[in-house]
Amino acid sequence: MIINTENNIQFVKENGYIKLPSILTNEEIVDLEKNCIKLLNESPEQYIHTETDFVKVISINQVSVQDNEAFGFLNKFFKNQELIEFVKKYFETDEINISKIFVQESSNTGEEVDVLPYKMHFDKTRYLKFMFYIRDVGPGDGAITFAKKEWNNELQKELLKKQALKEENVVEINDESQIEELQGPAGTLVVFDTNVSHKAGQVLTDNKRLIIRVDTTTI
Ligand SMILES: [Fe+2]
Repeated sequence: MIINTENNIQFVKENGYIKLPSILTNEEIVDLEKNCIKLLNESPEQYIHTETDFVKVISINQVSVQDNEAFGFLNKFFKNQELIEFVKKYFETDEINISKIFVQESSNTGEEVDVLPYKMHFDKTRYLKFMFYIRDVGPGDGAITFAKKEWNNELQKELLKKQALKEENVVEINDESQIEELQGPAGTLVVFDTNVSHKAGQVLTDNKRLIIRVDTTTI
């Protein structure tokens, strides 16, 4: 997993997000998929963040990794020096924290909805998030979407100076050319700053999207 290059950090600082293909080897992907499924099936109730017929999300913090054998593989992320260095250099401080790791499997609900988090928005609480695609994310498979740099810069100037920001602030972007959906094969990593306008992707195919997301922040 080689993600910590100065170029990548600089790119995220300027662009707000980056897509890095082939971050995981085929062997790692196979192994992670197996471990994620085991985790989704065996996780004790207290770690289940969301569970419906169409989505299951497990969230683990660093302290609870040792609570269950099925969590152990996540140490690969919690203790990843490359990732930690990336975050430190991004925020320009050593006072950083991996707040949580989420393992999420999502499938098609049969209807397309127009609600958060599937509308373009930016978050008030700032995180740098690392989203690993464990299965291929093609058209309709729920890829994450971002507003492009030029558009974001305008927005940030306007909105971030206003008071009373909500936790998630919906923004209207009618110009499709100003947004970018980040599809990619298994093993792709998307790194993004939640200050940048983004929206989650809905699964509209028969594929089940499987991701691991590492949320990091300053302390
Ligand atoms: Fe968000």
